[in-house]
Amino acid sequence: MAKEPVRVLVTGAAGQIGYALVPMIARGVMLGPDQPVILHMLDIPPAAEALNGVKMELVDAAFPLLKGVVATTDVVEACTGVNIAVMVGGFPRKEGMERKDVMSKNVSIYKSQASALEKHAAANCKVVVVANPANTNALILKEFAPSIPEKNITCLTRLDHNRALGQISERLNVQVSDVKNVIIWGNHSSTQYPDVNHATVKTPAGEKPVRELVKDDAWLNAEFITTVQQRGAAIIKARKLSSALSAASSACDHIHDWVLGTPEGTWVSMGVYSDGSYNVPAGLIYSFPVTCQNGEWKIVQGLGIDEFSRKKLDLTADELSEEKALAYSCLT
Ligand code: NAD
Ligand code: LMR
Repeated sequence: MAKEPVRVLVTGAAGQIGYALVPMIARGVMLGPDQPVILHMLDIPPAAEALNGVKMELVDAAFPLLKGVVATTDVVEACTGVNIAVMVGGFPRKEGMERKDVMSKNVSIYKSQASALEKHAAANCKVVVVANPANTNALILKEFAPSIPEKNITCLTRLDHNRALGQISERLNVQVSDVKNVIIWGNHSSTQYPDVNHATVKTPAGEKPVRELVKDDAWLNAEFITTVQQRGAAIIKARKLSSALSAASSACDHIHDWVLGTPEGTWVSMGVYSDGSYNVPAGLIYSFPVTCQNGEWKIVQGLGIDEFSRKKLDLTADELSEEKALAYSCLT
């Protein structure tokens, strides 16, 4: 029997990421090849005509799984009945800016959209915030939507996770699908900590630790980390626009694994509400290694954290605490 359609909201749908993301969702990349979807696309009035153009293209592409499109500048109409919300709407940084430089413009959007989601989305709606500063926007959304369960509000660090997999795969000249269990700790910012201490590669002789295969701790502890931390800026420098296809694809991965589960023995990175695991202060949206089953994520527990890593976990937590204070100062 055909499944009931799932309603997926994409905010900022007339923007660059939106343009890459909506066809992926309509093709089943996010929720699977047998899951019909109804797309809800929100943007602001100056982008209404462009948004309508995206809707026309979705119709023209004749996606078999796409059962309807709502294209609107009305936040209540956009949020009504949605099961998944991908929050991309906001302003991207330009060359030379840090992601938190777009804080004042973007956090106020997340405060106001929180109440629309809280009142009008389907019960148990899963939310991923993509717009920067992603962790802090998600935190503001959570704080101003107190009736949405905190476990349902997350932010995207899967792009950083995928970037780390990509760097290891290039360095070792192995398939990216054979590399697993990297971790992005903390903020989706240049203080994030891409950690390979538990990562492995599938080889004909079984799974081997990344450190054993790379045989270059100096590279892993320095250049690898800064490359992943700075990849967003490198893309902006090269494209004069921030990443879009990789962000869209990673947002699909994030929701796909959250809803459909992570493979046995594999974890992914998600920005989730901290419960104090790994001595990360509770009450931040912080990226952790998680496994997902039955539509729920769980932080992977018990991983060894050496002194080098500890400092990096704390540094990025400190930045998130500062961002939280800054966000509140922008809202008053
Ligand atoms: P963009 O400027 O191309 O598109 C953003 C869209 O949001 C625009 O169409 C704009 O009109 C719309 N918008 C603005 N305010 C809105 C509001 N209140 N409600 C609904 N829509 C609104 O930008 P983009 O390149 O698509 O990037 C979007 C965001 O995603 C930026 O903040 C960017 O920094 C961030 N980003 C995050 C990641 C990540 O990994 N977390 C990766 C890439 C980009
Ligand atoms: C990215 O990581 O590519 C995005 O967050 C865009 C940016 O500002 O770096």
